[in-house]
Amino acid sequence: MSINDNQNIKGIILAGGAGTRLYPLTKITSKQLLPVYNKPMIFYPLSVLIDTGIKDVMIITTKEDQENFKKLLGYGDEWGINIDYIIQKKPEGIAQSLIICEDWINDSSVALILGDNLFFGPDFNELIIDAIYKNQGATIFCIESNTPERFGVLEFDEKSNILSIEEKPEEPKSNLIVTGLYIYDNNASSLADTLKKSTRGEYEITDLNMIYLNNNKLNVKKLDSNYSWLDTGTFDTLLEASNYVKNLEKK
Ligand code: DAU
Repeated sequence: MSINDNQNIKGIILAGGAGTRLYPLTKITSKQLLPVYNKPMIFYPLSVLIDTGIKDVMIITTKEDQENFKKLLGYGDEWGINIDYIIQKKPEGIAQSLIICEDWINDSSVALILGDNLFFGPDFNELIIDAIYKNQGATIFCIESNTPERFGVLEFDEKSNILSIEEKPEEPKSNLIVTGLYIYDNNASSLADTLKKSTRGEYEITDLNMIYLNNNKLNVKKLDSNYSWLDTGTFDTLLEASNYVKNLEKK
């Protein structure tokens, strides 16, 4: 199954950033070009968008790395999609991707995926397609994590309504974290334009999601235990991701 052609949605892969947590691996190449078992990391988020049926994809990179991404992926002919490239001059936050791509997004909705996020599970594309069709505002995907303090964490009231999302809290209020896949309606760029930089100097995607939440327009989908989400932010999780894909391919 694929979204139908008249569904006006584009995809963005955010693949910039300094990758300092993975130095020296990322000293001369981008994190999202590092191998995860037998494929460059960016292949995984790209295939999420392709499997969903999204035909227009923007890849955001640093200036230094753009050429290498072009060499690897070209303009998408191989997969029957259009790939465009744009530079993020400085890594000033995930929400900045929506500001940089504002003109390109034009009148579309958008699926934003982080270039270092890997999703696996049965019919994952159908889950996203369903979320795209139902989206009224923003849709995020959450999953249980043993290390919630490293991520955006959901807080619930006693009736399981979401009260807030906290970015990397020292004392997480739940173990449900927000993964790096976000679906937004056409207001995302203009709302991102209103954000102020956080204390760590970034336009936080969590702040954008909080705007949608406060407007009662945030839909949260929980990925159950049939799904795996791997973030590749550390040496250990990068290795785990490779081993995970190796086992999966053997099966
Ligand atoms: O992975 C999911 C998490 O991603 C969410 O739970 C958090 O709410 C969200 O803030 C984000 O947290 P991270 O600390 O993992 O984000 P990080 O800074 O590592 O950036 C994620 C990817 O996006 C990484 O591959 C680099 C890229 N990036 C990041 C920023 C801030 C850019 O290309 N440009 C940027 O300005």
